[in-house]
Amino acid sequence: MRLKPFHTNIIIEPFRIRSVESMHFTTMEEREVLLKQAGYNPFLLKADNILIDLLTDSGTGAMSKEQWSAMLASDESYAGSSSYYKFEDAVQDITGFAHVIPTHQGRAAENILFTTIAKPGDIIPSNTHFDTTRAHIEHAGAEAWDLVIPEGHQPGLQHPFKGNMDLETLKKTIEEVGPDRIPVIMMTITNNSGGGQPVSMENIRNTSDLAHEYDIPFFLDACRFAENAWFIKTREKGYEDKSPIDIAREMFDHADGCTMSAKKDGMTNIGGFLALDNPELAKKCRSLEILTEGFPTYGGMAGYDMEAIAKGLYEAVDEKYLRYRIRTISYLGDKLTSAGVPIVQPTGGHAIYIDAKEMLPHIPPLQYPAWSLNNALYLLGGVRGVEIGSIMFGMQPDGTEKPASLELVRLAFPRRVYTQSHVDYLAEIIISVYNQRDHLTGYKVVSQSNVLRHFTVQLEPIK
Ligand code: F0G
Repeated sequence: MRLKPFHTNIIIEPFRIRSVESMHFTTMEEREVLLKQAGYNPFLLKADNILIDLLTDSGTGAMSKEQWSAMLASDESYAGSSSYYKFEDAVQDITGFAHVIPTHQGRAAENILFTTIAKPGDIIPSNTHFDTTRAHIEHAGAEAWDLVIPEGHQPGLQHPFKGNMDLETLKKTIEEVGPDRIPVIMMTITNNSGGGQPVSMENIRNTSDLAHEYDIPFFLDACRFAENAWFIKTREKGYEDKSPIDIAREMFDHADGCTMSAKKDGMTNIGGFLALDNPELAKKCRSLEILTEGFPTYGGMAGYDMEAIAKGLYEAVDEKYLRYRIRTISYLGDKLTSAGVPIVQPTGGHAIYIDAKEMLPHIPPLQYPAWSLNNALYLLGGVRGVEIGSIMFGMQPDGTEKPASLELVRLAFPRRVYTQSHVDYLAEIIISVYNQRDHLTGYKVVSQSNVLRHFTVQLEPIK
Protein backbone atom coordinates (compact mmCIF):
# COMPACT_ATOMS: atom_id res chain seq x y z
CA MET A 1 0.00 0.00 0.00
CA ARG A 2 1.28 3.47 -0.86
CA LEU A 3 0.61 6.05 1.82
CA LYS A 4 -0.28 9.59 0.87
CA PRO A 5 2.15 12.13 2.36
CA PHE A 6 0.81 13.52 5.60
CA HIS A 7 0.18 17.24 5.80
CA THR A 8 -0.85 19.28 8.80
CA ASN A 9 -1.07 22.97 9.58
CA ILE A 10 -0.41 22.32 13.24
CA ILE A 11 2.85 23.88 14.32
CA ILE A 12 4.03 21.76 17.23
CA GLU A 13 6.37 22.98 19.97
CA PRO A 14 9.79 22.15 18.46
CA PHE A 15 11.13 20.79 21.76
CA ARG A 16 10.22 18.13 24.26
CA ILE A 17 10.34 18.71 27.98
CA ARG A 18 12.93 16.96 30.14
CA SER A 19 12.99 19.16 33.21
CA VAL A 20 9.69 20.42 34.54
CA GLU A 21 8.59 23.21 36.82
CA SER A 22 5.30 22.84 38.71
CA MET A 23 2.56 25.36 38.10
CA HIS A 24 1.03 27.18 41.07
CA PHE A 25 -2.73 26.77 41.34
CA THR A 26 -4.88 28.97 43.57
CA THR A 27 -8.64 29.43 43.88
CA MET A 28 -10.46 32.60 42.92
CA GLU A 29 -11.27 33.21 46.62
CA GLU A 30 -7.56 32.95 47.47
CA ARG A 31 -6.63 35.30 44.64
CA GLU A 32 -9.14 37.88 45.86
CA VAL A 33 -7.34 37.94 49.23
CA LEU A 34 -3.85 37.87 47.68
CA LEU A 35 -4.58 40.75 45.32
CA LYS A 36 -6.05 42.84 48.12
CA GLN A 37 -2.98 42.14 50.27
CA ALA A 38 -0.80 43.29 47.34
CA GLY A 39 -2.63 46.65 47.27
CA TYR A 40 -4.26 45.58 43.99
CA ASN A 41 -0.84 45.82 42.37
CA PRO A 42 0.20 42.62 40.51
CA PHE A 43 3.89 43.67 40.70
CA LEU A 44 3.61 43.05 44.46
CA LEU A 45 2.22 39.51 44.17
CA LYS A 46 4.50 36.60 44.97
CA ALA A 47 5.28 34.72 41.76
CA ASP A 48 4.29 31.53 43.59
CA ASN A 49 0.72 32.78 43.56
CA ILE A 50 0.58 33.16 39.78
CA LEU A 51 -0.45 30.43 37.38
CA ILE A 52 0.65 31.88 34.04
CA ASP A 53 3.11 34.74 34.33
CA LEU A 54 3.21 36.99 31.28
CA LEU A 55 4.70 40.01 33.02
CA THR A 56 7.68 39.94 30.67
CA ASP A 57 9.55 37.88 28.10
CA SER A 58 12.82 39.19 29.52
CA GLY A 59 15.06 36.67 31.25
CA THR A 60 12.09 34.35 31.83
CA GLY A 61 12.75 31.80 29.07
CA ALA A 62 13.80 28.14 29.33
CA MET A 63 17.33 27.25 28.29
CA SER A 64 18.26 24.22 26.21
CA LYS A 65 20.33 21.25 27.35
CA GLU A 66 23.06 22.50 25.02
CA GLN A 67 23.13 25.79 26.92
CA TRP A 68 23.16 24.08 30.33
CA SER A 69 25.96 21.72 29.39
CA ALA A 70 28.06 24.56 27.96
CA MET A 71 27.50 26.44 31.22
CA LEU A 72 28.89 23.57 33.26
CA ALA A 73 32.03 23.64 31.14
CA SER A 74 32.55 27.40 31.46
CA ASP A 75 35.85 29.13 32.18
CA GLU A 76 35.58 31.55 35.09
CA SER A 77 39.00 33.19 34.63
CA TYR A 78 38.88 36.86 35.49
CA ALA A 79 40.68 37.90 32.29
CA GLY A 80 40.76 36.27 28.87
CA SER A 81 38.44 33.34 29.66
CA SER A 82 37.68 30.94 26.83
CA SER A 83 33.95 31.53 27.54
CA TYR A 84 34.40 35.17 26.55
CA TYR A 85 36.00 34.21 23.24
CA LYS A 86 33.15 31.84 22.38
CA PHE A 87 30.68 34.61 23.20
CA GLU A 88 32.66 37.14 21.15
CA ASP A 89 32.84 34.74 18.17
CA ALA A 90 29.07 34.19 18.20
CA VAL A 91 28.27 37.92 18.46
CA GLN A 92 30.75 38.76 15.69
CA ASP A 93 29.47 35.96 13.48
CA ILE A 94 25.88 37.17 13.67
CA THR A 95 26.31 40.96 13.96
CA GLY A 96 29.56 41.44 12.07
CA PHE A 97 30.65 44.13 14.57
CA ALA A 98 34.36 44.13 15.42
CA HIS A 99 34.16 45.18 19.06
CA VAL A 100 32.06 43.22 21.54
CA ILE A 101 31.60 44.69 24.99
CA PRO A 102 29.83 42.35 27.44
CA THR A 103 27.35 43.81 29.97
CA HIS A 104 25.14 42.34 32.68
CA GLN A 105 21.97 43.27 30.75
CA GLY A 106 20.65 45.59 28.05
CA ARG A 107 20.35 48.79 30.05
CA ALA A 108 24.02 48.56 31.07
CA ALA A 109 24.97 48.65 27.38
CA GLU A 110 22.68 51.70 27.00
CA ASN A 111 24.32 53.38 29.98
CA ILE A 112 27.81 52.89 28.52
CA LEU A 113 26.82 54.02 25.02
CA PHE A 114 24.87 57.14 25.96
CA THR A 115 27.19 58.26 28.76
CA THR A 116 30.00 58.10 26.18
CA ILE A 117 28.33 59.77 23.19
CA ALA A 118 25.44 61.95 24.39
CA LYS A 119 25.51 65.36 26.07
CA PRO A 120 23.01 68.06 27.07
CA GLY A 121 21.40 69.64 24.01
CA ASP A 122 21.67 66.46 21.91
CA ILE A 123 18.67 64.76 20.31
CA ILE A 124 18.53 60.99 19.79
CA PRO A 125 15.78 59.86 17.40
CA SER A 126 14.44 56.31 17.23
CA ASN A 127 11.29 54.61 15.96
CA THR A 128 10.27 54.28 19.64
CA HIS A 129 12.74 54.24 22.51
CA PHE A 130 12.18 51.61 25.18
CA ASP A 131 11.82 53.14 28.70
CA THR A 132 15.34 52.25 29.84
CA THR A 133 16.84 53.62 26.61
CA ARG A 134 14.94 56.87 27.05
CA ALA A 135 15.94 57.05 30.73
CA HIS A 136 19.66 56.65 29.93
CA ILE A 137 19.51 59.25 27.16
CA GLU A 138 17.79 61.69 29.52
CA HIS A 139 20.27 60.81 32.28
CA ALA A 140 23.04 61.93 29.91
CA GLY A 141 21.16 65.25 29.50
CA ALA A 142 19.99 64.57 25.94
CA GLU A 143 16.46 64.20 24.52
CA ALA A 144 14.92 60.98 23.22
CA TRP A 145 12.56 61.48 20.26
CA ASP A 146 10.12 58.84 18.95
CA LEU A 147 9.57 59.01 15.18
CA VAL A 148 7.59 55.87 14.37
CA ILE A 149 5.31 55.98 11.29
CA PRO A 150 1.78 57.33 12.02
CA GLU A 151 0.28 53.83 11.49
CA GLY A 152 2.29 52.75 14.56
CA HIS A 153 -0.02 54.83 16.77
CA GLN A 154 -3.28 53.18 15.66
CA PRO A 155 -3.83 49.93 17.61
CA GLY A 156 -6.52 48.42 15.38
CA LEU A 157 -4.88 49.19 12.03
CA GLN A 158 -3.31 46.43 9.91
CA HIS A 159 0.18 47.14 8.53
CA PRO A 160 3.00 44.61 8.09
CA PHE A 161 5.76 46.83 9.53
CA LYS A 162 4.21 49.14 12.07
CA GLY A 163 7.59 49.59 13.77
CA ASN A 164 9.04 51.47 10.78
CA MET A 165 10.76 54.82 11.20
CA ASP A 166 8.99 57.83 9.68
CA LEU A 167 11.78 58.76 7.26
CA GLU A 168 10.34 62.11 6.22
CA THR A 169 10.09 63.28 9.83
CA LEU A 170 13.57 61.92 10.51
CA LYS A 171 15.02 63.92 7.61
CA LYS A 172 13.18 67.04 8.74
CA THR A 173 14.46 66.52 12.28
CA ILE A 174 18.07 66.20 11.11
CA GLU A 175 17.79 69.35 9.01
CA GLU A 176 16.07 71.35 11.73
CA VAL A 177 18.24 70.44 14.72
CA GLY A 178 21.41 69.86 12.69
CA PRO A 179 23.42 66.64 12.44
CA ASP A 180 25.97 67.90 15.01
CA ARG A 181 23.36 67.62 17.71
CA ILE A 182 22.49 64.02 16.80
CA PRO A 183 25.24 61.70 18.07
CA VAL A 184 23.39 58.54 16.98
CA ILE A 185 20.13 57.40 15.39
CA MET A 186 18.60 54.37 17.14
CA MET A 187 16.14 51.77 15.87
CA THR A 188 14.33 49.30 18.17
CA ILE A 189 13.74 45.90 16.53
CA THR A 190 11.09 44.76 17.14
CA ASN A 191 9.44 47.92 18.48
CA ASN A 192 8.53 46.83 22.01
CA SER A 193 6.86 50.04 23.21
CA GLY A 194 4.92 50.19 19.94
CA GLY A 195 3.32 46.75 20.34
CA GLY A 196 6.26 44.45 19.45
CA GLN A 197 5.87 45.50 15.82
CA PRO A 198 8.62 44.74 13.29
CA VAL A 199 10.70 47.02 11.06
CA SER A 200 11.20 46.11 7.39
CA MET A 201 14.62 45.60 5.83
CA GLU A 202 13.78 48.40 3.42
CA ASN A 203 13.17 50.78 6.32
CA ILE A 204 16.35 49.67 8.12
CA ARG A 205 18.30 50.26 4.89
CA ASN A 206 16.74 53.66 4.22
CA THR A 207 17.22 54.83 7.80
CA SER A 208 20.84 53.74 7.64
CA ASP A 209 21.38 55.54 4.30
CA LEU A 210 19.81 58.71 5.65
CA ALA A 211 21.92 58.62 8.84
CA HIS A 212 25.10 58.05 6.84
CA GLU A 213 24.27 60.83 4.39
CA TYR A 214 24.72 63.16 7.37
CA ASP A 215 27.61 61.17 8.93
CA ILE A 216 25.48 60.13 11.88
CA PRO A 217 26.10 56.64 13.31
CA PHE A 218 23.14 54.24 13.16
CA PHE A 219 22.61 51.74 16.02
CA LEU A 220 20.08 48.97 16.54
CA ASP A 221 18.44 48.15 19.88
CA ALA A 222 18.63 44.50 18.91
CA CYS A 223 16.91 42.74 21.87
CA ARG A 224 14.43 40.98 19.57
CA PHE A 225 16.49 40.86 16.37
CA ALA A 226 15.59 37.23 15.60
CA GLU A 227 11.84 37.87 15.83
CA ASN A 228 12.28 40.89 13.54
CA ALA A 229 14.19 38.71 11.05
CA TRP A 230 11.29 36.24 11.03
CA PHE A 231 8.78 38.99 10.17
CA ILE A 232 11.03 40.15 7.32
CA LYS A 233 11.19 36.56 6.04
CA THR A 234 7.42 36.10 6.19
CA ARG A 235 6.20 39.60 5.25
CA GLU A 236 8.77 41.28 3.00
CA LYS A 237 9.13 40.49 -0.68
CA GLY A 238 12.44 38.93 -1.67
CA TYR A 239 13.22 37.40 1.72
CA GLU A 240 10.97 34.30 1.61
CA ASP A 241 13.84 31.95 0.79
CA LYS A 242 16.47 33.48 3.04
CA SER A 243 17.34 31.99 6.41
CA PRO A 244 16.67 34.04 9.56
CA ILE A 245 20.39 34.16 10.37
CA ASP A 246 21.21 35.61 6.95
CA ILE A 247 18.42 38.15 7.30
CA ALA A 248 19.75 39.07 10.75
CA ARG A 249 23.25 39.49 9.32
CA GLU A 250 21.87 41.79 6.64
CA MET A 251 20.03 43.89 9.25
CA PHE A 252 23.22 44.30 11.27
CA ASP A 253 25.22 45.10 8.10
CA HIS A 254 23.29 48.34 7.78
CA ALA A 255 24.18 49.44 11.32
CA ASP A 256 27.33 50.75 12.99
CA GLY A 257 26.60 49.06 16.27
CA CYS A 258 23.93 47.70 18.59
CA THR A 259 22.83 47.45 22.18
CA MET A 260 21.47 44.07 23.21
CA SER A 261 19.61 42.53 26.11
CA ALA A 262 20.44 38.84 25.83
CA LYS A 263 17.48 38.20 28.15
CA LYS A 264 15.29 38.26 25.04
CA ASP A 265 16.70 36.83 21.79
CA GLY A 266 19.94 35.81 23.52
CA MET A 267 17.72 33.10 25.10
CA THR A 268 19.28 33.53 28.55
CA ASN A 269 18.14 34.60 32.00
CA ILE A 270 20.66 37.45 32.25
CA GLY A 271 23.31 39.18 30.09
CA GLY A 272 23.77 41.62 27.27
CA PHE A 273 26.30 43.48 25.17
CA LEU A 274 27.25 46.58 23.25
CA ALA A 275 28.81 45.80 19.88
CA LEU A 276 30.22 48.30 17.40
CA ASP A 277 32.68 48.95 14.60
CA ASN A 278 34.33 52.27 15.50
CA PRO A 279 37.61 51.47 17.35
CA GLU A 280 37.95 54.88 19.07
CA LEU A 281 34.39 54.73 20.38
CA ALA A 282 34.96 51.13 21.50
CA LYS A 283 38.03 52.25 23.45
CA LYS A 284 36.07 54.95 25.28
CA CYS A 285 33.20 52.56 25.99
CA ARG A 286 35.58 49.93 27.38
CA SER A 287 37.06 52.45 29.85
CA LEU A 288 33.59 53.11 31.21
CA GLU A 289 32.79 49.41 31.15
CA ILE A 290 35.72 48.69 33.48
CA LEU A 291 34.39 51.32 35.85
CA THR A 292 30.76 50.22 35.90
CA GLU A 293 30.58 46.57 34.74
CA GLY A 294 33.93 44.82 35.03
CA PHE A 295 36.98 43.74 33.02
CA PRO A 296 36.23 43.78 29.24
CA THR A 297 36.29 39.98 28.95
CA TYR A 298 33.41 39.47 31.37
CA GLY A 299 31.72 42.86 31.91
CA GLY A 300 29.13 41.95 34.50
CA MET A 301 28.60 38.35 33.44
CA ALA A 302 29.88 35.03 34.74
CA GLY A 303 31.71 32.83 32.24
CA TYR A 304 28.67 30.55 32.22
CA ASP A 305 26.36 33.40 31.21
CA MET A 306 28.56 34.09 28.18
CA GLU A 307 28.52 30.36 27.29
CA ALA A 308 24.72 30.40 27.41
CA ILE A 309 24.52 33.45 25.12
CA ALA A 310 27.03 31.97 22.65
CA LYS A 311 24.59 29.07 22.14
CA GLY A 312 21.37 31.04 22.64
CA LEU A 313 21.96 33.52 19.82
CA TYR A 314 21.98 30.64 17.32
CA GLU A 315 18.96 28.92 18.91
CA ALA A 316 17.02 32.20 18.56
CA VAL A 317 17.46 32.24 14.78
CA ASP A 318 16.47 28.60 14.32
CA GLU A 319 13.63 28.50 11.81
CA LYS A 320 11.58 25.84 13.58
CA TYR A 321 11.80 27.75 16.84
CA LEU A 322 10.84 31.09 15.27
CA ARG A 323 7.90 29.61 13.39
CA TYR A 324 6.55 28.17 16.68
CA ARG A 325 7.36 31.33 18.63
CA ILE A 326 5.58 33.78 16.35
CA ARG A 327 2.70 31.36 15.76
CA THR A 328 2.08 31.14 19.52
CA ILE A 329 1.36 34.85 19.55
CA SER A 330 -0.75 34.91 16.37
CA TYR A 331 -2.65 31.76 17.46
CA LEU A 332 -3.80 33.54 20.62
CA GLY A 333 -4.37 36.75 18.63
CA ASP A 334 -6.63 34.91 16.14
CA LYS A 335 -8.74 33.39 18.92
CA LEU A 336 -9.16 36.74 20.65
CA THR A 337 -9.93 38.59 17.43
CA SER A 338 -12.64 36.11 16.44
CA ALA A 339 -14.24 36.54 19.88
CA GLY A 340 -14.27 40.32 19.39
CA VAL A 341 -11.54 41.16 21.94
CA PRO A 342 -9.80 44.35 20.75
CA ILE A 343 -6.03 43.84 20.48
CA VAL A 344 -3.16 45.63 18.77
CA GLN A 345 -3.15 44.44 15.14
CA PRO A 346 -1.42 42.63 13.61
CA THR A 347 0.03 40.52 16.43
CA GLY A 348 3.71 41.24 17.02
CA GLY A 349 6.66 39.16 18.06
CA HIS A 350 6.69 38.62 21.79
CA ALA A 351 3.35 39.73 23.20
CA ILE A 352 -0.36 40.32 22.81
CA TYR A 353 -1.50 43.83 23.66
CA ILE A 354 -5.17 44.11 24.67
CA ASP A 355 -6.74 47.51 24.01
CA ALA A 356 -8.47 48.29 27.31
CA LYS A 357 -9.63 51.74 26.20
CA GLU A 358 -11.66 50.12 23.45
CA MET A 359 -12.83 47.23 25.61
CA LEU A 360 -13.83 49.22 28.71
CA PRO A 361 -15.22 52.57 27.51
CA HIS A 362 -17.22 52.86 30.76
CA ILE A 363 -14.00 53.21 32.83
CA PRO A 364 -12.48 56.70 32.47
CA PRO A 365 -8.71 56.80 31.76
CA LEU A 366 -7.89 58.13 35.22
CA GLN A 367 -9.73 55.20 36.76
CA TYR A 368 -7.19 53.05 34.94
CA PRO A 369 -9.07 50.67 32.59
CA ALA A 370 -5.94 48.68 31.65
CA TRP A 371 -5.04 48.23 35.30
CA SER A 372 -8.58 47.00 35.97
CA LEU A 373 -8.40 44.54 33.08
CA ASN A 374 -5.04 43.17 34.19
CA ASN A 375 -6.37 42.62 37.72
CA ALA A 376 -9.46 40.88 36.35
CA LEU A 377 -7.23 38.47 34.40
CA TYR A 378 -5.47 37.59 37.64
CA LEU A 379 -8.67 37.24 39.65
CA LEU A 380 -10.39 35.06 37.11
CA GLY A 381 -7.48 33.00 35.82
CA GLY A 382 -4.32 33.53 37.86
CA VAL A 383 -2.75 35.27 34.84
CA ARG A 384 -0.37 38.21 35.25
CA GLY A 385 0.29 40.72 32.49
CA VAL A 386 1.37 44.31 32.75
CA GLU A 387 -0.52 47.58 32.41
CA ILE A 388 0.88 49.97 29.82
CA GLY A 389 -1.41 52.90 30.41
CA SER A 390 -2.16 55.79 32.75
CA ILE A 391 -0.65 54.24 35.88
CA MET A 392 2.64 53.62 34.03
CA PHE A 393 2.75 56.87 32.04
CA GLY A 394 0.11 59.22 33.48
CA MET A 395 2.09 60.82 36.30
CA GLN A 396 3.59 64.19 35.28
CA PRO A 397 6.84 65.62 36.71
CA ASP A 398 4.80 68.27 38.61
CA GLY A 399 2.74 65.59 40.37
CA THR A 400 -0.43 66.06 38.30
CA GLU A 401 -1.94 63.29 36.18
CA LYS A 402 -2.64 63.14 32.46
CA PRO A 403 -4.24 60.14 30.69
CA ALA A 404 -1.76 58.09 28.65
CA SER A 405 -2.37 57.97 24.90
CA LEU A 406 -3.07 54.22 25.01
CA GLU A 407 -4.50 51.90 27.67
CA LEU A 408 -3.01 48.49 26.98
CA VAL A 409 -2.44 45.24 28.84
CA ARG A 410 0.69 43.50 27.56
CA LEU A 411 0.83 39.73 27.83
CA ALA A 412 4.47 38.90 27.03
CA PHE A 413 5.47 35.30 26.42
CA PRO A 414 8.56 33.76 28.02
CA ARG A 415 10.50 31.79 25.39
CA ARG A 416 9.96 27.98 25.22
CA VAL A 417 8.04 27.94 28.52
CA TYR A 418 4.31 27.55 27.86
CA THR A 419 2.56 25.00 25.64
CA GLN A 420 -0.46 25.20 23.38
CA SER A 421 -2.85 24.05 26.14
CA HIS A 422 -1.62 26.93 28.30
CA VAL A 423 -2.42 29.27 25.42
CA ASP A 424 -5.86 27.70 24.92
CA TYR A 425 -6.55 28.25 28.63
CA LEU A 426 -5.39 31.86 28.33
CA ALA A 427 -7.72 32.49 25.42
CA GLU A 428 -10.65 31.16 27.48
CA ILE A 429 -9.80 33.37 30.46
CA ILE A 430 -9.38 36.51 28.36
CA ILE A 431 -12.62 35.85 26.46
CA SER A 432 -14.46 35.19 29.71
CA VAL A 433 -13.26 38.53 31.13
CA TYR A 434 -14.26 40.17 27.84
CA ASN A 435 -17.78 38.71 28.06
CA GLN A 436 -18.13 40.12 31.59
CA ARG A 437 -16.49 43.44 30.75
CA ASP A 438 -19.45 45.56 31.83
CA HIS A 439 -18.91 44.36 35.41
CA LEU A 440 -15.32 45.60 35.61
CA THR A 441 -14.86 48.76 37.65
CA GLY A 442 -12.18 51.42 37.84
CA TYR A 443 -9.55 51.87 40.54
CA LYS A 444 -8.33 54.77 42.65
CA VAL A 445 -4.81 55.33 43.93
CA VAL A 446 -4.36 55.03 47.69
CA SER A 447 -0.61 55.64 47.89
CA GLN A 448 2.17 56.09 45.36
CA SER A 449 5.70 57.34 44.73
CA ASN A 450 6.65 60.07 42.28
CA VAL A 451 8.89 58.04 39.99
CA LEU A 452 8.01 54.78 38.25
CA ARG A 453 4.93 54.53 40.41
CA HIS A 454 3.60 51.36 38.78
CA PHE A 455 6.09 49.19 40.67
CA THR A 456 4.84 50.16 44.14
CA VAL A 457 1.48 51.94 43.78
CA GLN A 458 -1.34 50.81 46.10
CA LEU A 459 -4.92 51.01 44.81
CA GLU A 460 -8.51 50.24 45.70
CA PRO A 461 -11.36 49.22 43.41
CA ILE A 462 -14.08 51.87 43.00
CA LYS A 463 -17.34 50.28 44.10
N1 F0G B 1 15.39 47.62 24.91
C1 F0G B 1 14.21 46.99 24.76
C2 F0G B 1 13.50 47.11 23.44
C3 F0G B 1 13.66 46.25 25.81
O1 F0G B 1 12.49 45.64 25.62
C4 F0G B 1 14.37 46.15 27.03
C5 F0G B 1 13.80 45.42 28.16
C6 F0G B 1 15.61 46.81 27.15
C7 F0G B 1 16.08 47.53 26.06
C8 F0G B 1 16.42 46.76 28.42
O2 F0G B 1 17.00 45.51 28.60
O3 F0G B 1 16.00 44.69 30.74
O4 F0G B 1 18.09 43.69 29.81
O5 F0G B 1 18.14 45.95 30.79
N2 F0G B 1 12.58 45.05 28.21
C9 F0G B 1 11.94 44.28 29.26
C10 F0G B 1 10.46 44.16 28.96
C11 F0G B 1 12.23 44.72 30.66
O6 F0G B 1 9.72 43.63 29.82
O7 F0G B 1 10.02 44.55 27.87
P1 F0G B 1 17.31 44.94 30.06
